[in-house]
Amino acid sequence: MGRNKFKAPKGTRDILPEEAKKREYIEEIAKEIFQLYNYQPIITPLFEKTELFIRGIGESTDIVQKEMYTFQDKKGRSLTLRPEGTASIVRAFLEHNFNQKPFPLKLFYIGPMYRFERPQAGRSREFWQIGAEAIGSIEPAIDAEIICLMIEYLTRLGLKDFTLLLNSMGCPKCRLSFIKVLEKYLHPFKGELCPDCVRRLSTNLLRIYDCKNKNCLKILRQGPIISHFLCEECLSHFKELQALLTQEGIHFQIEPFLARGLDYYTKTTFEVRSPYLGAQNAIGGGGRYDGLIEELGGDSTPGIGFAIGVERLLLHAEVEKIKIPQAAKPKVFIGLVERDLKREAFKILQDLRDASISAEMDFLGRSLKSQIRLADKLGVSFVLFIGPDEMEKGVVKVRDMESGLEEEIKKDNLIFSLKKKLSVKDGGNNES
Ligand code: HAM
Repeated sequence: MGRNKFKAPKGTRDILPEEAKKREYIEEIAKEIFQLYNYQPIITPLFEKTELFIRGIGESTDIVQKEMYTFQDKKGRSLTLRPEGTASIVRAFLEHNFNQKPFPLKLFYIGPMYRFERPQAGRSREFWQIGAEAIGSIEPAIDAEIICLMIEYLTRLGLKDFTLLLNSMGCPKCRLSFIKVLEKYLHPFKGELCPDCVRRLSTNLLRIYDCKNKNCLKILRQGPIISHFLCEECLSHFKELQALLTQEGIHFQIEPFLARGLDYYTKTTFEVRSPYLGAQNAIGGGGRYDGLIEELGGDSTPGIGFAIGVERLLLHAEVEKIKIPQAAKPKVFIGLVERDLKREAFKILQDLRDASISAEMDFLGRSLKSQIRLADKLGVSFVLFIGPDEMEKGVVKVRDMESGLEEEIKKDNLIFSLKKKLSVKDGGNNES
């Protein structure tokens, strides 16, 4: 048996420190913006009762039909690893009687999702989403807020080359008349549609928009357009949203065939697409779900939200050469001149850390020469030499790794002096 017997399961991977650090950064910026818009964090379980997703996302969606990680627990209950966050948020909203809180209730989440899809660039089985949901308002202004929030976030990260697509799926009322017309239009093409779409004809017609088959798409694109069937209320909602986005200088493109892959959408749907991600070009998307809370057993309550795929965001950011701050390096290395002084060295190490100076030392009994080599690799600014002569004099020898200059500093004065030196190196911006 080879040494690498175990590999991460297909469609999953380890996020190694360099990427983990990038993710930390994009999460930090997300949290700053969520705070600015008054969205509060929520963490829900990684798995839920299967029924929640079937009811929430829709029986005939690709997610429910093909992509769920469903398993039975030891008591025979059917559970599913969450394929998305919205159904869980609504479940939590209902479970904790959040309808008692002032509306709109604004929540955000960051975490892994699971879909059994064929892995390819930008598509994996475990992926992360950064998402937000605003529950309880029917106003187009909240649609505008959610979209502004998403766009501001991407812009703040430095992204430029993306397109915001916008559509309205109408409400169940106006959708009904559209479905009738679409059905009539598609009927003569039945023989030309792919088997999935033929199934969709009799199960859930609108899911036909999820099809990637070129021929089906061509037929669809020559057919009726949902926005032509919007009722007065849906149309004025859509128009007001567009006016608000225009007022905020948000560029968008109306995409009449943007249905998105989940059944719960009503009225507004939107998606941010990247020109760099090939087939998996949606960096994120979302929309309104005015019927979902009722569908899951609550009072009729509107909601809207979005989710951004973290991996796709990072892939895109890389093409746009977005600068993401590097992992912080330790600033100081303790060079142990004599092994007997290990205890003293460890004390100084911890004293530095207590003073918020990131510091490192050798834990492998390296020679002084290899310790310096290690310090160099770590990119520290200063090495402190702890040797018998220095100990006797009550000083520490400090080497500036950039200039190579060395000086002796009294132990009592070490922290103060190092902080000063580091602050000079950081251009006076960073005291630690
Ligand atoms: P979604 O469009 O299914 O929407 O997923 C949102 C984003 O998650 C996608 O645009 C994509 O970036 C990422 N994503 C989805 N599947 C994968 C995958 N297999 N691998 C990598 N990334 C993926 C939702 O999930 C809705 N819950 C969004 C929402 C929130 N609507 C209202 N509120």
